Amino acid sequence: MNTLFHSLRTKLILGVGLVLIVTMGIHAYMDIMSSEKAFLDEEKTKALDISDTVMKSIEYPMLDGEMEDVQEILERVNALKDLRVVHLCDPTGLIKHSGKRKLINRVTRSEITKEALRTRSLVKGLEMREGEQIFRYAMPVLNEKVCHKCHGSENKILGVLTAGFVWEPIKEKIRAHRNKMAIEFLISLVLVIWLIMSLLHHMVIIPIERLTKAARAITRGDLSQEIPVSRSKDEVGELTDAFREMQKSLRRTDRKPEKPSHKRL
Ligand code: HEC
Repeated sequence: MNTLFHSLRTKLILGVGLVLIVTMGIHAYMDIMSSEKAFLDEEKTKALDISDTVMKSIEYPMLDGEMEDVQEILERVNALKDLRVVHLCDPTGLIKHSGKRKLINRVTRSEITKEALRTRSLVKGLEMREGEQIFRYAMPVLNEKVCHKCHGSENKILGVLTAGFVWEPIKEKIRAHRNKMAIEFLISLVLVIWLIMSLLHHMVIIPIERLTKAARAITRGDLSQEIPVSRSKDEVGELTDAFREMQKSLRRTDRKPEKPSHKRL
């Protein structure tokens, strides 16, 4: 008999669990995806803002051909916590000014910067650099009319400003968020299943076990088993009441046949 209850429980756990896993799982997945996207967008916007600010701040010194000032600005910007690389290269990809002086006069190896030189448009993306993943913005520096007097007008761009941001900590944050969501998902799943199971245990399984015991006793001819009155007015309560009435009427019919036999005696 226990196995029957056990299987009722198992069936419910499986059924309810499956529904919960699917619905809560979809919800958690959507939540993770949208919050990760928002998070990445925010980081990218931040990186773009910083790159833009660097570009704007070197604009005026560049206009005057004050390239030492440009170098100084890049070195100062390079001190920013999240910035790994910032440099300005000429149209051939030769680094002319950099936050790190040792990189000056090297040819850039970044594919993103090279692509920006080639396409003369903003290129961004993730790239490995010295074993570390960075998010890179490569912005072409356009040769505007005001620049022509020193640079001539044949080149469309005068170089590319590159800014690279650390990406590992951001990925770490995303991982931590994902883990947190997974743990919350599991805890709520277990809690909901536990709640349903304990309600079920008290409201259905215990009363049914009691009735089963009484029914067995009746089968043995024992009508003395007291079935407690059910307080609940639900289906289980009705079943219990019906059982009590059945037991009562059985007790009556059990006693009735004795009376005529007394008379006969
Ligand atoms: C007064 C003259 C002058 C003007 C105007 C000027 N520059 Fe320059 N620029 C220079 C000099 C000098 C260098 C250094 C060249 C070198 O080191 O070979 C330079 C270097 C650069 C470089 C570094 C790459 C390279 O070829 O060395 C960039 C990028 C640049 N200028 C952009 C600009 C832009 C954009 C403007 C217009 C907004 C501009 N410059 C206006 C004089 C000028």
